[in-house]
Amino acid sequence: MEIKKMMVIGAGQMGSGIAQAAAQAGYSIVLNDIKPEFVQKGLDNIAKNLARGVEKGRMTEADKQAVLGRIKSSTSLEDARDVDLAIEATVENMAVKGKIFADLDRIAPPHAILATNTSSLPITEIGAATRRPEKVIGMHFFNPVPVMKLVEVIRGLATSDEVLKIIVELSRKLGKEPVEINDFPGFAANRILLPMINEAVYAVYEGVGAPQAIDQVMKLGMNHPMGPLELADLIGLDTCLAILEVLHAGFGDKYRPCPLLRKYVKAGWLGRKTGRGFYDYSNGGAK
Ligand code: CAA
Ligand code: NAD
Repeated sequence: MEIKKMMVIGAGQMGSGIAQAAAQAGYSIVLNDIKPEFVQKGLDNIAKNLARGVEKGRMTEADKQAVLGRIKSSTSLEDARDVDLAIEATVENMAVKGKIFADLDRIAPPHAILATNTSSLPITEIGAATRRPEKVIGMHFFNPVPVMKLVEVIRGLATSDEVLKIIVELSRKLGKEPVEINDFPGFAANRILLPMINEAVYAVYEGVGAPQAIDQVMKLGMNHPMGPLELADLIGLDTCLAILEVLHAGFGDKYRPCPLLRKYVKAGWLGRKTGRGFYDYSNGGAK
């Protein structure tokens, strides 16, 4: 089967990045969210990224307009009725994803593949919300999508070989490097990354150092491009906590989320997306 038309559900930082990568690769995209202003925010983000590409001479203004012209806005899942592939990138919550997959299963044509960009949730369970688990697969992109090369490709218990092959090939067409990973909590990347982020939060909580100091240690001492707390603010502290809850439930105590992370999420300090996390982004840059 050839993928021609895709829908991306969730126009947040990941969904907008996935839509951008797909539109740049020549695909027609429907970008869906629950409110028009959320879709618009995603489109604005894509337009800003493409404008930087024009400024840097990587593309022409006409290329930029052509890419934007391939993305159609949507606030109704019914728009999935003629797509070949839907990629879900909403919130990291099993109940939300289960409902979306059950709805997509009802709406999308029988041949359509249903992929999820979940960071940690079981692909097998998401597949079980549909009557086509053989066509359900994990397609886990990394943030920021336009920059990061990796896609973890995760098959559920029932995912077919054909669907796996199509998604591996599609990832390459989007300019990414697919790596096949089995269906375990947090897959591979987040099982390894999130304990480091959680430990950095514990280091702040216990007074080992200020966020800036902890981040400097990892940047200057380990050559990480970003410190773990800056990275947590980029990912979103709500998403970090949701992933840690899945790891904690799956593997036990060593993944217990730090109470300070819970407190920040309860306060609505979710990182860059709300203007405050371990750093304050209210005036543009991090403080
Ligand atoms: N969207 C699009 N492009 C972006 C971007 C964004 N949000 N942020 C940076 N870029 C681009 C810039 O435009 C720039 O490209 P050009 O030079 O071609 O213009 C390039 O990235 C480098 O950016 P900067 O010079 O501004 O900054 P930098 O050198 O510090 O790089 C970074 C920024 C790429 C984000 C780098 O800091 C980095 O790699 N950080 C680590 C990111 C990471 O670990 N991501 C994985 C998170 S975990 C995850 O995604 C999985 C999950 O489930 C939670
Ligand atoms: P985000 O908060 O930036 O965006 C989520 C978007 O989903 C919001 O615009 C929200 O309005 C929308 N949404 C919520 N419920 C919806 C529904 N029922 N239908 C349509 N849209 C809905 O989140 P994000 O960082 O883009 O993360 C999205 C998904 O990608 C999560 O599952 C997350 O775990 C995963 N992920 C995140 C990262 C990261 O670094 N943030 C990396 C890889 C994967």
